Amino acid sequence: MGLLDDRVCVITGGAGSLGVASARLFLDEGAKVMLVDLDAAALARSVADLASPNVDAVAADVSQATGRAPPSSGPSRASARSMCSSATPATRAQWSP
Ligand SMILES: NC(=O)c1ccc[n+]([C@@H]2O[C@H](COP(=O)([O-])OP(=O)(O)OC[C@H]3O[C@@H](n4cnc5c(N)ncnc54)[C@H](O)[C@@H]3O)[C@@H](O)[C@H]2O)c1
Repeated sequence: MGLLDDRVCVITGGAGSLGVASARLFLDEGAKVMLVDLDAAALARSVADLASPNVDAVAADVSQATGRAPPSSGPSRASARSMCSSATPATRAQWSP
């Protein structure tokens, strides 16, 4: 039994190094994982690397209030119960909290 069995974890910056490492750990602990990142190509590589039926991904800018709708199936259709934020702007100039 894993520490995160039946949890859905949303990971922003999910294609980055911290995001993928977090996803691997969460999957190992039984979670379903939704990766969110600006970089669609990197997201596709991350999903392929993770090679799990319990990972899904959506390209979106988490700094914006609106974005792409999540996929119609997969982990994202369940309620998110954990959040891991690892998105980081490429440059400080892009950061405007
Ligand atoms: N890697 C580490 O060991 C480590 C350790 C401590 C803290 N951190 C911090 O954690 C954060 C992530 O680190 P990392 O090494 O994974 O960086 P990274 O550059 O590898 O990944 C960041 C990801 O965030 C995405 N991103 C940026 N802006 C976004 C937005 N608006 N919407 C969606 N996605 C967006 C990028 O496309 C990228 O894939 C950084 O703030 C870093 O300082 C990292």
